[in-house]
Amino acid sequence: TAESENNEGNKHMVIARTAVIGSGLMGAGIAEVLAKSGCDVIVSEVSDDAVAAGRARIEKSLAKAVEKGKLSAAESEAALARLRFTTDIADLADRQLVIEAASENEDIKKAIFAQLDEVVTDPNAILASNTSSMPIIRFAQATSRPERVLGIHFFNPAPVQPLVEIVSSVLTDPEVAETATTFVTEVLGKAPVQASDRPGFIVNALLIPYLCSAIRMLEAGLATKEDIDTGMVKGCAHPMGPIALADLVGLDTCLFAAESIYTETGDPAAKPPVLLSRMVDAGLLGVKSGRGFYEY
Ligand code: 3HC
Repeated sequence: TAESENNEGNKHMVIARTAVIGSGLMGAGIAEVLAKSGCDVIVSEVSDDAVAAGRARIEKSLAKAVEKGKLSAAESEAALARLRFTTDIADLADRQLVIEAASENEDIKKAIFAQLDEVVTDPNAILASNTSSMPIIRFAQATSRPERVLGIHFFNPAPVQPLVEIVSSVLTDPEVAETATTFVTEVLGKAPVQASDRPGFIVNALLIPYLCSAIRMLEAGLATKEDIDTGMVKGCAHPMGPIALADLVGLDTCLFAAESIYTETGDPAAKPPVLLSRMVDAGLLGVKSGRGFYEY
C-alpha cells in the first residue's frame, strides 16, 4: 500500500485516505493517479450522470495505459478497486487529503471548501485545490483552517505529465506544503515545484500568454492553425503546437485562466483574445467537447 511502501519513516503525516472533488478532465486524471499510487480514493460528484462520466473517463485512461504497456491489467484492476464514487460530500469525513478539481468558478469552489471544512473531521487533513489560476487564499478563507489549505496543481493529462505545482498562500502552514511535497514525490512519483499564490502560478503565468498570442496570430490571419502548430512542433520540439494545446487544455479553462491573469496583473499578452471568448460562447471547448479549433 502507499502507507507501507512509500510513506514509512516520513516525519510527516502518512496520507492514505484521499478524495477528489469533481471527475472532469483533471479530476478524473488526478483520481487515477492517486489510485494507481495505492491510495484509497473517493471521488465526489454532483450527480449520478457525472459519476458515470467520470468513471468512464478513468476506465478509458487506465485501458490506454494498459494498451501502452504502462500498467498491467492486474494493476489497472487494483487501481479501480481503490476508487469509490459518491454524490454526498459528507462521505469525505475521514479523508486525510482532499483535492478539489471542480469547474473553474470561484463561487462554486468557495462553497466546496466551506462544505469540506464542515465534513472533514481530521484537523490535520489537507484541503487542496487544483485550480489553474485562482487565488488559493480565497478558498482558504472559506474555511476555519486556512493554514491547512494549499494548491496542488496537476497538468493535463495528469496520468502522463510529471509536474505538480505546490502553491502556498500567505496563510499556508509551511509544514502542510512540505507534507504535500513529500506525498507528491514519494507516493505519486511526480515532480513538485514550489509556487506562490500569484495568478497562473509558474507554468500558466508563462503558458497562457503564449497560447493567447497564438490565438491572436490566428485571429489576425497571419498564419493557419496548422502552420502555427507545425512551427512550434517542428521548430521548437514542443510535443504539440499551441492551438492544439489550447484545445487539449480546454478553451473554457484557457479563457478563465487568461481572465484571471489579465485582471490581476494587466499582462497584455494574457488579455483573452475575442476569438477565444467566441469559441467558448459557441460551446466549442476543445477535445473534451469534440470540437475546438480542431475536430476530435
Ligand atoms: N496513461 C499512462 N500513460 C499514458 C497514457 C495514459 N492514459 N496516455 C499516454 N500515455 C503515455 C504514452 O505511453 C507515452 O509514453 P512514452 O513516451 O513513454 O511512450 C506518452 O504518454 C505519450 O503518449 P502518446 O505517444 O500516446 O501520445 P498522445 O498523442 O496520446 O499524447 C501528449 C500526447 C501526452 C498529450 C503530448 O502531446 C503532450 O505532452 N502534450 C503537451 C501537453 C501539455 O503541455 N500539457 C500541459 C497543459 S497546461 C495544464 O494542464 C495546466 C492547466 O492548468 C491549464
